Amino acid sequence: MRKQRALVTAVDLERSSVVANNTMNRERGLTGVNSYARELGVDLLAHLADRPAPSWLDLCSGEGRALREAASALPADAVLTAVDLVGPLAPGPTPPTLEEIIASVSTWTPTRTYDLITCVHGLHYIGDQLGLLTRAASWLSEDGLLTAHFDPDSIRRPDGTPAGRAAITALRASGFRYSPRHHRVTLHGPRSITLPFTYVGADPDAGPNYTGQPAVGSYYT
Ligand SMILES: C[S@@+](CC[C@H](N)C(=O)[O-])C[C@H]1O[C@@H](n2cnc3c(N)ncnc32)[C@H](O)[C@@H]1O
Repeated sequence: MRKQRALVTAVDLERSSVVANNTMNRERGLTGVNSYARELGVDLLAHLADRPAPSWLDLCSGEGRALREAASALPADAVLTAVDLVGPLAPGPTPPTLEEIIASVSTWTPTRTYDLITCVHGLHYIGDQLGLLTRAASWLSEDGLLTAHFDPDSIRRPDGTPAGRAAITALRASGFRYSPRHHRVTLHGPRSITLPFTYVGADPDAGPNYTGQPAVGSYYT
């Protein structure tokens, strides 16, 4: 019999040491060794090229370096939105095409759709990960791309048994792809999704995940 975990709300999770961990890598740029291109295996600028007013939403954006670098390569009518719990940390003026929002992605909702939505090693700190993926799926523009790191091992039933396989099956049935090798989910084009999971709370003491960093456990019936 597994030990029942003490689950916490989103507010308590966001105050917990696992989310406030200041050793997290928040500094990834657009390209190079420590970058979104490397972590996501996608040429993000190529995805945005040749679109009128290209738009990119980065969830759990950290210092926002990738979007800042993209801003200088994209047209003046580009729309770049960075959302993170912690205020923008990167030094220097904010490019005019970049909006940096301090908010929890668990409650924040955009007022428009995006050609590209990324969440680079951000879901590991979110309680209702499946809820965020479901909401983000509806924020894509036609032909938009959503790509995010996702660890199925973090998805659990209230008694602690793994539910990652069931989550992947449900995500795939809804149009997502999942690469176990890269721990990445991707979705092309907007979807209105209902997953057969009800969120019940988060475990901030789940311990390190595949990245080696402490991460959150997400519990669902
Ligand atoms: C590992 S860092 C990755 C940052 C950035 N994506 C990068 O790769 O450089 C995870 C980020 O998630 C943010 N985060 C954690 N919980 C969040 C929440 N509920 N809403 C918004 N951001 C959150 C943290 O503040 C942190 O900046």
